[in-house]
Amino acid sequence: MKVSVFGLGYVGAVSCGCLPELGHEVIGVDTNPTKVRMINDGRSPVVEEGIDELIEAAVRSEKLHATDDLAAAVMDSEVSLVSVATPAKANFAPDLTAVEGVIRSIGEVLRRKPGSHTIVLRSTVAPGTTEDHLRPILEAGAGRAVGDRLSLVFNPEFLREGSSVRDFRHPPQTIVGSVDEAGYELMERLYADVPGAFVRTSCRVAESVKYLCNVFHAMKIVFANEAGSVLKAYGLDAREVMRIFCQDKQLNISPLYLRPGFAFGGSCLPKEVKGFVTLARQADVPIPALAHLLDSNSAHVDRAFEMIAAGGRRRVALFGLAFKPGTDDMRDSPLVVLAERLVGRGFDIAIYDGFVRLSRLLGKNKEYIDREVPHLDRLLRPTPEEALEHAEVIVVGHADAAVRESIRRHAAGRRIVDLSGYDDLRDCGAASYEGICW
Ligand SMILES: NC(=O)c1ccc[n+]([C@@H]2O[C@H](COP(=O)([O-])OP(=O)(O)OC[C@H]3O[C@@H](n4cnc5c(N)ncnc54)[C@H](O)[C@@H]3O)[C@@H](O)[C@H]2O)c1
Repeated sequence: MKVSVFGLGYVGAVSCGCLPELGHEVIGVDTNPTKVRMINDGRSPVVEEGIDELIEAAVRSEKLHATDDLAAAVMDSEVSLVSVATPAKANFAPDLTAVEGVIRSIGEVLRRKPGSHTIVLRSTVAPGTTEDHLRPILEAGAGRAVGDRLSLVFNPEFLREGSSVRDFRHPPQTIVGSVDEAGYELMERLYADVPGAFVRTSCRVAESVKYLCNVFHAMKIVFANEAGSVLKAYGLDAREVMRIFCQDKQLNISPLYLRPGFAFGGSCLPKEVKGFVTLARQADVPIPALAHLLDSNSAHVDRAFEMIAAGGRRRVALFGLAFKPGTDDMRDSPLVVLAERLVGRGFDIAIYDGFVRLSRLLGKNKEYIDREVPHLDRLLRPTPEEALEHAEVIVVGHADAAVRESIRRHAAGRRIVDLSGYDDLRDCGAASYEGICW
């Protein structure tokens, strides 16, 4: 394929070096004449292991050249990758000036170019930017709509400076959001020989994944550094602790606990978080991120309450009271906190939790119930149907398949607030469905 690459920084230069390896012909474009000259001299404008050799080989075999002539590059290619910088503005939103300028100019050239053309944004932008912001600019410039010999794609770049060539050749996955079907097909051809999963999604999801990856990496680094600083204060080598910690691929380095849902609770997580924060405080080690975990967790309970209250003071059926499904443990359960908040604010509520009910029948956990939540005990209903009978709003903390079946049967005319993310409650004929964070 004939590919034009706009912006010869880290991302663009690596594309210029690596795309010819996949058999493509590349034209690099930059407003900086030094970078253009360097490429044409067979040298890389960025310092990265292995990139000089790749660029030199590509230029020598006439598979790569650079220019400052945007129009010529667009006319001579079928796909344009845009990897100009998106630096942070004063409010930290990405500055789109360069991206907008390039997209507008490409659009204007496309007005007079026969055949079809695909524009692929590689720069990191906020969710919604490609479709809501850049698409109208492109269409206005080109004088035609995406879908009419014109494709618009967002394809995030995951390379890390320092190992960018290796990362280009072995990406964790290739994520492609496209406004139109032809965009996906072109990207499949462009990356045909790149290993790893090819993921088709929307532009906004692809933009979000890229943002979240960097936020998550930052969070991991902060976690390791704060944890290490506290452990060091107690004479421990955190590198040894983290080495063993990371060997747990089931609970620690895994998708577990990364599913959006309700707040954490139970007899271990809140207690241990508080305990670790206390250790830090006693050693005078500031850990601003970890010290705020519980604040964040409470804010999530507030969010659930606000969502329920937003519909007015309606009668509520709450499903789930224990801190997670499959247990009767109500210690530090965020659902108990939510139920108490609703009762305290004058909501009329009925609760169903199969496990709590069973343990109550068996006389287990009785002491806890009598001592801590006797007021909630009175609100427990023996069957899901009896809780539902009462409800205008159905709040689902957790519910097994049989209980959800019952909810689905009684959903008509009622509002569902889902704190757990059950797909089968989404389209069950309720008056409305809302997830807490989806
Ligand atoms: N650097 C990374 O490791 C990395 C990784 C993934 C994603 N990203 C994202 O990719 C984008 C590019 O990052 P980078 O580090 O390569 O940026 P960079 O600042 O190194 O390079 C940007 C290039 O764009 C050129 N440019 C500016 N306006 C132009 C125009 N109108 N026409 C042509 N060229 C123009 C600049 O001269 C510069 O050479 C950013 O959105 C960044 O967030 C960067």
